[in-house]
Amino acid sequence: MAPKELSVGEVARRSGVAVSTLHFYEAEGLIRSERTAAGHRRYGRDVLRRIAIIRIAQSVGLSLAEIAAAFATLPKGRTPSARDWTLLSQDWRDSLTARINQLTQLRDNLDGCIGCGCLSLETCPLWNDGDRLAKRGPGPQRMLDACALPANLKP
Ligand code: FES
Repeated sequence: MAPKELSVGEVARRSGVAVSTLHFYEAEGLIRSERTAAGHRRYGRDVLRRIAIIRIAQSVGLSLAEIAAAFATLPKGRTPSARDWTLLSQDWRDSLTARINQLTQLRDNLDGCIGCGCLSLETCPLWNDGDRLAKRGPGPQRMLDACALPANLKP
């Protein structure tokens, strides 16, 4: 039977994250441990799920601050249930959908005019003649339109 609590070395080994990174996550409030009488850290096994989600979320571009804000909605003092994770994922839905849209736009439009003002492609005179899209604001206006970014994610 798997132990309920893990040492920092066991967490590092099972999660694939360096001990120094675990200490950093803990200092940032993303994970937490209890101390033994001898002062050694002990983690509940649910820390492995948190670390996995941190790594995946970071790999798709979420900041540690966004991850910390989401984790702050999880209950303290007990292992989060499936329902707790469902509520967290609902909070993240708009942000993740916006990122999916951005990545899709990037994948599908990297070879076309994105309305950024460079006028460097053959299609720019067609889609952004004379940089008329500059009137709408800075950045790649055609891509920003298509991404439908939430207000808090717009540049
Ligand atoms: S790609 Fe920059 S304005 Fe067309």
